[in-house]
Amino acid sequence: MFDFLFKKRDLLPLPYKRELHCHIIPGVDDGSRQMSDSLDYMLSLQRHGVERVIFTPHHTSPRYMNTPEIIQPLFDKLKEECQHKGLTILPENYSFEYRVDETFLEMMQKGKCGEPTCALRPLYGKYILIEGSFSHPIPAFDEVIDRLLSDGWYLILAHPERYLYYAGSKGRFYHHLQERQVEFQCNILSFAGYYGEVSKKMAYWMLEQGYVNFLGSDLHTYHHTYMLDDFLRSKDYASIYDSLCDSISNDQL
Ligand SMILES: [Fe+2]
Repeated sequence: MFDFLFKKRDLLPLPYKRELHCHIIPGVDDGSRQMSDSLDYMLSLQRHGVERVIFTPHHTSPRYMNTPEIIQPLFDKLKEECQHKGLTILPENYSFEYRVDETFLEMMQKGKCGEPTCALRPLYGKYILIEGSFSHPIPAFDEVIDRLLSDGWYLILAHPERYLYYAGSKGRFYHHLQERQVEFQCNILSFAGYYGEVSKKMAYWMLEQGYVNFLGSDLHTYHHTYMLDDFLRSKDYASIYDSLCDSISNDQL
Protein backbone atom coordinates (compact mmCIF):
# COMPACT_ATOMS: atom_id res chain seq x y z
CA MET A 1 0.00 0.00 0.00
CA PHE A 2 2.90 2.34 0.64
CA ASP A 3 4.88 1.10 -2.36
CA PHE A 4 5.00 4.59 -3.83
CA LEU A 5 7.10 5.72 -0.88
CA PHE A 6 9.83 3.26 -1.76
CA LYS A 7 9.65 3.38 -5.53
CA LYS A 8 12.92 4.63 -6.95
CA ARG A 9 12.74 7.61 -9.27
CA ASP A 10 13.32 6.77 -12.94
CA LEU A 11 16.90 6.76 -13.98
CA LEU A 12 17.78 9.35 -16.61
CA PRO A 13 20.76 8.59 -18.89
CA LEU A 14 23.97 10.57 -18.84
CA PRO A 15 23.65 13.57 -21.18
CA TYR A 16 26.41 12.24 -23.46
CA LYS A 17 27.27 9.10 -25.39
CA ARG A 18 31.01 9.69 -25.42
CA GLU A 19 32.87 9.51 -22.11
CA LEU A 20 36.06 11.52 -22.29
CA HIS A 21 37.41 11.63 -18.77
CA CYS A 22 37.78 8.43 -16.74
CA HIS A 23 40.35 6.24 -15.01
CA ILE A 24 39.33 2.78 -16.18
CA ILE A 25 42.58 1.41 -17.64
CA PRO A 26 43.52 -1.12 -14.95
CA GLY A 27 46.49 -0.72 -12.61
CA VAL A 28 48.07 2.46 -13.98
CA ASP A 29 46.88 5.20 -11.62
CA ASP A 30 44.49 5.71 -8.70
CA GLY A 31 41.55 4.42 -10.78
CA SER A 32 40.65 0.82 -11.64
CA ARG A 33 42.84 -1.71 -9.85
CA GLN A 34 42.24 -4.70 -12.08
CA MET A 35 40.59 -5.81 -15.31
CA SER A 36 37.45 -7.15 -13.60
CA ASP A 37 36.87 -3.72 -12.00
CA SER A 38 37.41 -2.04 -15.38
CA LEU A 39 34.74 -4.25 -16.95
CA ASP A 40 32.31 -3.41 -14.15
CA TYR A 41 32.97 0.31 -14.66
CA MET A 42 32.42 -0.06 -18.42
CA LEU A 43 29.14 -1.86 -17.78
CA SER A 44 28.08 0.89 -15.40
CA LEU A 45 28.73 3.55 -18.07
CA GLN A 46 26.95 1.43 -20.69
CA ARG A 47 23.88 1.23 -18.45
CA HIS A 48 23.91 5.01 -18.23
CA GLY A 49 23.80 5.36 -22.01
CA VAL A 50 27.47 5.77 -22.86
CA GLU A 51 28.45 4.20 -26.22
CA ARG A 52 32.14 5.15 -26.58
CA VAL A 53 34.93 5.77 -24.11
CA ILE A 54 38.16 7.73 -24.35
CA PHE A 55 40.34 6.76 -21.39
CA THR A 56 42.41 9.38 -19.63
CA PRO A 57 44.84 7.87 -17.12
CA HIS A 58 46.78 10.42 -15.06
CA HIS A 59 50.02 11.83 -16.37
CA THR A 60 51.47 13.45 -13.26
CA SER A 61 55.15 13.66 -12.41
CA PRO A 62 56.64 11.79 -10.60
CA ARG A 63 53.78 9.56 -9.49
CA TYR A 64 52.07 8.56 -12.71
CA MET A 65 54.52 8.61 -15.60
CA ASN A 66 52.18 6.84 -17.99
CA THR A 67 53.15 6.51 -21.64
CA PRO A 68 51.48 5.06 -24.76
CA GLU A 69 53.87 2.08 -24.44
CA ILE A 70 52.36 1.31 -21.02
CA ILE A 71 48.74 2.03 -21.91
CA GLN A 72 48.40 0.58 -25.44
CA PRO A 73 48.58 -3.15 -24.48
CA LEU A 74 46.15 -2.59 -21.59
CA PHE A 75 43.78 -0.67 -23.86
CA ASP A 76 43.92 -3.52 -26.42
CA LYS A 77 43.28 -6.10 -23.71
CA LEU A 78 40.36 -4.13 -22.27
CA LYS A 79 38.84 -3.78 -25.74
CA GLU A 80 39.15 -7.53 -26.27
CA GLU A 81 37.61 -8.30 -22.85
CA CYS A 82 34.68 -5.95 -23.52
CA GLN A 83 33.93 -7.82 -26.75
CA HIS A 84 34.38 -11.16 -25.02
CA LYS A 85 31.86 -10.17 -22.32
CA GLY A 86 29.37 -8.98 -24.93
CA LEU A 87 29.46 -5.33 -23.89
CA THR A 88 28.23 -2.95 -26.56
CA ILE A 89 30.16 0.03 -25.20
CA LEU A 90 33.23 0.72 -27.33
CA PRO A 91 36.71 1.59 -26.03
CA GLU A 92 37.35 4.29 -28.61
CA ASN A 93 40.76 5.68 -27.75
CA TYR A 94 43.02 6.70 -24.91
CA SER A 95 44.90 9.82 -24.04
CA PHE A 96 46.02 11.23 -20.69
CA GLU A 97 44.84 13.69 -18.09
CA TYR A 98 47.94 15.87 -18.31
CA ARG A 99 48.89 17.66 -15.11
CA VAL A 100 50.54 20.93 -16.15
CA ASP A 101 53.86 20.38 -14.36
CA GLU A 102 57.57 20.49 -15.23
CA THR A 103 57.46 17.20 -17.13
CA PHE A 104 54.47 18.36 -19.15
CA LEU A 105 56.29 21.58 -20.09
CA GLU A 106 59.27 19.52 -21.28
CA MET A 107 57.00 17.29 -23.35
CA MET A 108 55.23 20.33 -24.76
CA GLN A 109 58.53 21.63 -26.13
CA LYS A 110 59.37 18.46 -28.05
CA GLY A 111 57.06 19.20 -30.94
CA LYS A 112 53.87 20.94 -32.04
CA CYS A 113 50.55 19.23 -32.55
CA GLY A 114 50.85 16.80 -35.46
CA GLU A 115 54.65 16.96 -35.77
CA PRO A 116 56.54 13.64 -35.69
CA THR A 117 58.44 14.73 -32.57
CA CYS A 118 55.26 15.68 -30.69
CA ALA A 119 55.22 13.97 -27.26
CA LEU A 120 51.59 14.71 -26.33
CA ARG A 121 48.81 12.34 -27.31
CA PRO A 122 45.54 14.04 -28.19
CA LEU A 123 42.23 13.12 -26.64
CA TYR A 124 40.58 13.50 -30.03
CA GLY A 125 41.76 15.39 -33.10
CA LYS A 126 43.69 18.37 -31.73
CA TYR A 127 42.14 18.36 -28.26
CA ILE A 128 44.12 17.65 -25.10
CA LEU A 129 42.83 17.36 -21.55
CA ILE A 130 44.90 19.27 -19.01
CA GLU A 131 44.52 19.72 -15.28
CA GLY A 132 45.99 21.97 -12.62
CA SER A 133 47.09 21.22 -9.10
CA PHE A 134 44.37 21.21 -6.43
CA SER A 135 46.58 23.15 -4.03
CA HIS A 136 47.87 26.10 -6.06
CA PRO A 137 47.33 27.87 -9.40
CA ILE A 138 49.39 26.82 -12.42
CA PRO A 139 52.44 29.12 -12.61
CA ALA A 140 52.51 31.31 -15.72
CA PHE A 141 49.34 29.61 -16.96
CA ASP A 142 48.67 32.33 -19.54
CA GLU A 143 52.06 31.74 -21.16
CA VAL A 144 51.51 27.97 -21.18
CA ILE A 145 48.11 28.46 -22.80
CA ASP A 146 49.57 30.79 -25.44
CA ARG A 147 52.26 28.28 -26.29
CA LEU A 148 49.85 25.34 -26.54
CA LEU A 149 47.41 27.32 -28.69
CA SER A 150 50.17 28.49 -31.00
CA ASP A 151 51.37 24.88 -31.25
CA GLY A 152 47.95 24.03 -32.69
CA TRP A 153 46.21 22.44 -29.69
CA TYR A 154 42.62 22.90 -28.58
CA LEU A 155 42.56 22.96 -24.80
CA ILE A 156 40.12 21.35 -22.40
CA LEU A 157 40.65 22.12 -18.72
CA ALA A 158 39.54 19.20 -16.53
CA HIS A 159 37.13 19.94 -13.67
CA PRO A 160 37.69 23.71 -13.34
CA GLU A 161 35.02 23.79 -10.63
CA ARG A 162 37.36 21.85 -8.34
CA TYR A 163 40.17 24.45 -8.19
CA LEU A 164 39.02 26.06 -4.99
CA TYR A 165 41.69 28.77 -5.02
CA TYR A 166 39.79 30.38 -7.92
CA ALA A 167 36.44 30.27 -6.15
CA GLY A 168 36.99 33.72 -4.61
CA SER A 169 37.77 35.37 -7.94
CA LYS A 170 34.05 36.02 -8.60
CA GLY A 171 34.34 34.14 -11.87
CA ARG A 172 37.14 36.30 -13.29
CA PHE A 173 39.46 33.33 -13.80
CA TYR A 174 36.77 31.43 -15.68
CA HIS A 175 35.77 34.39 -17.88
CA HIS A 176 39.43 34.98 -18.63
CA LEU A 177 40.07 31.39 -19.70
CA GLN A 178 36.95 31.18 -21.86
CA GLU A 179 37.98 34.39 -23.60
CA ARG A 180 41.31 32.71 -24.31
CA GLN A 181 39.53 29.76 -25.99
CA VAL A 182 40.12 27.30 -23.15
CA GLU A 183 37.13 24.98 -22.91
CA PHE A 184 35.92 23.43 -19.68
CA GLN A 185 35.10 19.85 -18.77
CA CYS A 186 33.10 19.64 -15.57
CA ASN A 187 32.57 16.49 -13.54
CA ILE A 188 29.01 15.22 -13.34
CA LEU A 189 29.43 14.41 -9.65
CA SER A 190 30.30 18.03 -8.90
CA PHE A 191 26.60 18.76 -9.47
CA ALA A 192 25.81 16.13 -6.84
CA GLY A 193 28.03 17.89 -4.29
CA TYR A 194 30.49 15.00 -4.22
CA TYR A 195 33.53 17.33 -4.15
CA GLY A 196 31.99 19.73 -1.65
CA GLU A 197 29.63 22.67 -1.60
CA VAL A 198 32.02 25.18 -3.18
CA SER A 199 32.63 22.98 -6.24
CA LYS A 200 28.91 22.27 -6.49
CA LYS A 201 28.05 25.96 -6.43
CA MET A 202 30.74 26.67 -9.01
CA ALA A 203 29.48 23.88 -11.30
CA TYR A 204 25.94 25.29 -11.24
CA TRP A 205 27.27 28.79 -11.84
CA MET A 206 29.31 27.55 -14.80
CA LEU A 207 26.25 25.83 -16.25
CA GLU A 208 24.29 29.09 -15.99
CA GLN A 209 27.11 30.95 -17.74
CA GLY A 210 27.21 28.39 -20.58
CA TYR A 211 30.73 27.37 -19.51
CA VAL A 212 30.15 23.62 -19.23
CA ASN A 213 31.57 22.71 -22.64
CA PHE A 214 32.14 19.05 -21.84
CA LEU A 215 31.08 16.71 -19.08
CA GLY A 216 32.89 13.66 -17.71
CA SER A 217 32.40 11.05 -15.04
CA ASP A 218 36.07 11.14 -13.88
CA LEU A 219 35.22 7.60 -12.79
CA HIS A 220 37.88 6.04 -10.53
CA THR A 221 36.14 3.64 -8.14
CA TYR A 222 33.02 1.58 -7.37
CA HIS A 223 31.98 4.35 -5.03
CA HIS A 224 31.77 6.70 -8.01
CA THR A 225 29.48 4.26 -9.83
CA TYR A 226 27.12 4.16 -6.82
CA MET A 227 27.14 7.95 -6.53
CA LEU A 228 26.37 8.21 -10.22
CA ASP A 229 23.44 5.76 -9.92
CA ASP A 230 21.98 7.86 -7.12
CA PHE A 231 22.51 11.20 -8.78
CA LEU A 232 21.00 10.14 -12.12
CA ARG A 233 17.79 9.31 -10.24
CA SER A 234 17.66 12.58 -8.37
CA LYS A 235 15.37 15.56 -8.75
CA ASP A 236 18.44 17.81 -8.96
CA TYR A 237 19.70 15.94 -12.00
CA ALA A 238 16.28 15.96 -13.67
CA SER A 239 16.21 19.73 -13.22
CA ILE A 240 19.51 20.30 -15.09
CA TYR A 241 19.33 17.45 -17.60
CA ASP A 242 18.07 19.53 -20.56
CA SER A 243 20.46 22.32 -19.82
CA LEU A 244 23.43 19.92 -19.70
CA CYS A 245 22.35 18.31 -23.00
CA ASP A 246 22.24 21.77 -24.62
CA SER A 247 25.60 22.87 -23.22
CA ILE A 248 28.00 20.04 -23.82
CA SER A 249 29.82 18.86 -26.96
CA ASN A 250 31.07 15.41 -25.93
CA ASP A 251 29.32 13.81 -28.88
CA GLN A 252 30.26 16.51 -31.39
CA LEU A 253 34.03 16.18 -31.11
FE1 LIG B 1 40.64 12.59 -13.65
